[in-house]
Amino acid sequence: MAQVILENVKKYFGQVKALDGIDLIVKDQKFVVLLGPSGCGKTTLLRCVSGLEKVTSGRIYFDGQDVTDLPPRSRNVSMVFQSYAVWPHMRVYENIAYPMKIKKYDREEIENKVEWAAKLLNIHELLDRYPAQLSGGQRQRVAVARAIVLEPAVLLMDEPLSNLDALLRVMMRSELKKLQERLGTTTIYVTHDQVEAMTMGDMIAVMSAGKIQQYGTPEEIYHKPANLFVAGFIGSPRMNFLEVEIQRGKGEVFFISESVKITCPLKLSDKLRDFPQKRVTLGMRPEHIHLSRVESGYPLRGEVYFSERLGADTIVHFKVDEEKIVAKIPGDVILEEGGSVEFFLDLSKIHVFDPKTGRSLV
Ligand SMILES: Nc1ncnc2c1ncn2[C@@H]1O[C@H](COP(=O)(O)OP(=O)(O)OP(=O)(O)O)[C@@H](O)[C@H]1O
Ligand SMILES: [Mg+2]
Repeated sequence: MAQVILENVKKYFGQVKALDGIDLIVKDQKFVVLLGPSGCGKTTLLRCVSGLEKVTSGRIYFDGQDVTDLPPRSRNVSMVFQSYAVWPHMRVYENIAYPMKIKKYDREEIENKVEWAAKLLNIHELLDRYPAQLSGGQRQRVAVARAIVLEPAVLLMDEPLSNLDALLRVMMRSELKKLQERLGTTTIYVTHDQVEAMTMGDMIAVMSAGKIQQYGTPEEIYHKPANLFVAGFIGSPRMNFLEVEIQRGKGEVFFISESVKITCPLKLSDKLRDFPQKRVTLGMRPEHIHLSRVESGYPLRGEVYFSERLGADTIVHFKVDEEKIVAKIPGDVILEEGGSVEFFLDLSKIHVFDPKTGRSLV
């Protein structure tokens, strides 16, 4: 168990800036998720923490000890990879025992620990099998058992569930989370699946282009996105964005476009009163646009042009004049394409961004 601190970590591969000044504090025993699109630097960050990759500059500390120049074996970390990195020619038992054998633990201790890890992962009946005789989910459990058998200070996992089918992924998600809580091992977990991030992480670091865009709890990331990138990346379907002009009336602030004239809620207008620019970007999540009237609801009248029925929910694409907006409504409501419709935007849930910097203004 350890606290992990990264200080201004940069990693270049030739001209490619894979990590562009990462500052991150992973508190002891916490489960931190690195979330971001392909190529944003998640794996590179994990490999730098493990020591498999050397940083170009910056420092990494485990419990206050500078480990930046230590090789992987001196860092007390374990890593689980996306592909099941289990050795096909070894039985499950030998696979799990391997890290202990390398470190020359005595036989009895190895037996006890392998049994302990295998029981935790519910694979103790598979110890005599070869990996080829296991399902994908079982193989990944073996990889996790091997990663925890030495009780590392830091556990690193790089998209460990992405090769599993949807059902198994959901199951393993909660199992891994429970296992981490039970062991209390400080964990950094990479995914590009936002549901995985939201359900597993104590904290989420949203990354893009080698930078951390926001570091917060799942609630903060969803309710208070720091910028347009995070706002657009978290949430499905994606947040609607609307370019509007700010108009100041007597004590009131309005958001105006060709299609809307929204009276800005009081708690936001205080923050926007001194904003010098004329234009802002409004953000509204599809799940905050309702079919029935809500308190502080702003009516959006338009025409349905497309709807996707997902079962429990229906995703409605509609147009208010030329503005395309997406709403998420209960699946039992049927709206005809081409029909006119009135939605209510919950103004207490809107976001306001500076279109130039992308930063949240509220
Ligand atoms: N060994 C390498 N040599 C050169 N460039 C690399 C190397 N490893 C990674 N990169 C580059 O660094 C950037 C970050 O890559 P990284 O693998 O960390 O992304 P990622 O977020 O893990 O993506 P994914 O979700 O696709 O796994 C990418 O532009 C990638 O092409
Ligand atoms: Mg990766």
